[in-house]
Amino acid sequence: MSGKQHGTTNGCETVGRKLNQFGDFEDVTNMSVNDWDYRWSLGQTKFHMPKVHPLLDEGHEVIGNECVDSACRQFFEEHNIPYTSTPLTGIEGVLYQATDGTPIKLYRCDCFDLSRYARVMADLMKKDGRYLLDCFLVDNSVFGGPPFNSDQNDVKQAFGKLCKVEKIDTKDAFTKWQEAWGIDSFIEDVYLLGKK
Ligand SMILES: C[S@@+](CC[C@H](N)C(=O)[O-])C[C@H]1O[C@@H](n2cnc3c(N)ncnc32)[C@H](O)[C@@H]1O
Repeated sequence: MSGKQHGTTNGCETVGRKLNQFGDFEDVTNMSVNDWDYRWSLGQTKFHMPKVHPLLDEGHEVIGNECVDSACRQFFEEHNIPYTSTPLTGIEGVLYQATDGTPIKLYRCDCFDLSRYARVMADLMKKDGRYLLDCFLVDNSVFGGPPFNSDQNDVKQAFGKLCKVEKIDTKDAFTKWQEAWGIDSFIEDVYLLGKK
């Protein structure tokens, strides 16, 4: 566990704190790998979608990254895909890999900070590669996150030097879940990035 104190806070301690996605008042603005591990261990993963993107069905090889072991294992178990887990060399982490021929691999490792992440993703992209980025517009002065607000300027700041940035969709993603966070607007923006 991290050095952070987890657990419920009483009414007095919550004064001035914002409700987070996990239903408590812990400050989650700088979540560490251990903090995510803790949330997965509690099953506080409402963001986890039952339906996955159909990239596999369309014949693509899928390579994912996740920092929590139980999340990777849960993925394969939920989809009844047999798998192996192998420690990575050169970096702390584990490779989870399907053993029935399904072209899917999950790397369990810490995927850096945003600017390093952007550089790695841009490096990995082929010349005509495409990268779909999902962002949210959310008032984090009311709601403690995650998710955290990322507008077009944030995306351009992180990726703009390396990639062409095009916003291809914007939609109202406000549901009862977001209403429970105390906010009244939740917009999902989708960007298509291409190598410059
Ligand atoms: C809000 S969730 C989104 C999960 C997924 N995209 C979905 O919609 O179900 C963020 C996920 O990223 C993982 N994560 C957080 N920080 C990470 C890091 N530094 N490296 C790799 N994975 C990380 C968390 O454990 C969590 O499962």
